[in-house]
Formats: sequence, C-alpha cells, structure tokens
Amino acid sequence: MVKTKIAVLVSGGGTNLQALLDAQAAGKLPHGEIVLVVSNKAGAYALTRAEQAGVATAVLTGPDFEARLNQLLASAGIEMIVLAGFLKILSAAFTAAWPERILNIHPSLIPSFCGEGYYGLKVHEEALRRGVKVTGATVHFVNEIPDGGRIVAQKAVEVLPGDTPESLQRRVMEQAEWILLPQAAEMVAEQLSLVK
Ligand code: GRF
Repeated sequence: MVKTKIAVLVSGGGTNLQALLDAQAAGKLPHGEIVLVVSNKAGAYALTRAEQAGVATAVLTGPDFEARLNQLLASAGIEMIVLAGFLKILSAAFTAAWPERILNIHPSLIPSFCGEGYYGLKVHEEALRRGVKVTGATVHFVNEIPDGGRIVAQKAVEVLPGDTPESLQRRVMEQAEWILLPQAAEMVAEQLSLVK
C-alpha cells in the first residue's frame, strides 16, 4: 500500500500538528505520511515540533507565497494538505488546484462562528457572547470560501458555566480538535490512497 503524502501548513504553536505527529507515531495514520511542514511565520513553535519528529520543514514568508509553496509541494510529491492553525487565506486558484485535497480544522461547529475574521480566540469569544451551550470543532475541505468547503467531521463540546474564551478554547482542543483532525486526516488519506 502506497501512503498518501501529506504536507501540514502551520502559523503558530502547532498543537494540532502535534496531534497529527502523535497519531502517526502511534500507528493511527496508516494510510498517510507527514513528509513536510510549512510555516508562513518564522520561529513558529510548530516548526520545532516537526523537527523533533524528524519531519522536513520550510518557512515561506514574503511575496509569491503560493508559487513557492507549489514548488515545494511538487518537489516533495505531496498529495494532500492539512491546514493546522494556518492563518493565511489561500487563493481560489490555489484551492481549485487541490479539490477535496486540503483539510482545515476550525474550532466551532460550522456554520456557526466561522468565515472571514473568525479565528483563534475570537471564535470562542463569539460563542460565549451568543450564549450557545454546545460548541465544538469541524474538519472540512478547503475551497474558495473561507470555512465553506464540504464538512468531513464534527465533534460537539459542552460550554460550561464560568467559561472564559481561554478555558473554552482549551476544552475544544482537548475534547474535539486533537481527536478529530487525525481521524479525518486518516480517512481522507485512505480515500486518496485508493484512487491512485
Ligand atoms: C486551533 O484552534 C485551530 O482550530 C485553529 O487555530 C488553532 C491552532 O492551534 N484553526 P495550534 O497551532 O494547532 O495549536
């Protein structure tokens, strides 16, 4: 069986990347192989996590981001991309070149609290402001609409009395994101390995 070659795009701390690396080390990503981690921020801690796991890294900043990314992806033979806390919006031309091959994790139950401007703590602040009692995380394919591609997996998480954006963010990560993203990545990697 030929594994689906995966690149993970990151911008920050990389706890979701860590969940993917841990899943791979535990044999829970049997149809995929994380071969490249790309950051659009120099010094992102996610890069250290990748290095510690022995995965190749690259930092791409400045102009022509997508053109240089395309070169990197092509030379590494990448077949699937996972956005794990990647804060740059990819162009319609880029996403169209990777139909149902780019996954993103979003920390709410889409279509709530999603779209342009909803990232990081902002998502949880809005969930608390609106007073929802259940939130969660969504893994979806990436298309030209921010957070608008087909939903692959979702997991609900309770909002508790006294929650702050930070406590809610932490619970959503622990109970949903870090479980859901590796599961969804394996599911898509398996599907892609079958169509080769
Ligand atoms: C996560 O909440 C993820 O859902 C969102 O950005 C955050 C990234 O965190 N897209 P990390 O870098 O994976 O720790």
